[in-house]
Amino acid sequence: DYKTPFGVKIDLETGVIPGANKLVRRLSDMRGYFLDEKAYEELLKEDPIVYEVYAIEQEEKEGDLNFATTVLYPGKVGKEFFFTKGHYHAKADRAEIYCGIKGRGGMLLQTPEGEAKWIPMEPGTVVYVPPYWAHRTVNTGNEPFIFLAIYPADAGHDYGSIKEKGFSKIVIEEDGEVKVVDNPRWKL
Ligand code: 6PG
Ligand code: NI
Repeated sequence: DYKTPFGVKIDLETGVIPGANKLVRRLSDMRGYFLDEKAYEELLKEDPIVYEVYAIEQEEKEGDLNFATTVLYPGKVGKEFFFTKGHYHAKADRAEIYCGIKGRGGMLLQTPEGEAKWIPMEPGTVVYVPPYWAHRTVNTGNEPFIFLAIYPADAGHDYGSIKEKGFSKIVIEEDGEVKVVDNPRWKL
């Protein structure tokens, strides 16, 4: 049987997709992700929302597509800008497309061998995430960074190895500048 086509209007100011499933990630959901543990514990007293995801997802079948907006709030833990957890796809060869909607930031990508790439994003930037690359977005601005992601319905999420090892690069503010530098804790 054919599925029913539909259109939805993303609120370009807030990133909300009407009818979507909403997921909220607070700082307390991200223990161990940030480098500065003292700054993490301090900010945990407020336990701010780091990001929200509004997802419209289909059954996990090959050939179908999901899409989701992410609203990544501005903030830092120590010098490190707020970021999404980051993941490989569970089916690692599934690619993805991101499109910047509001605010400023970028995407960190990484191969399983630790080769990293930083792609700056602003409204209108389209990022191609090739098969096999882990991906994490970072808000380097002072307003919410909002983007749309479109990904295969059977891609899934594999958070494990990023949770353990992080990315080989970190994105920090130093001397008032955004810097992408080596992660001192990274090892393959
Ligand atoms: C996906 C997308 C994207 C991502 C969110 C939150 O595969 O679903 O990459 O929607 O999930 O931006 O990031 P995390 O999934 O890494 O927490
Ligand atoms: Ni993804």
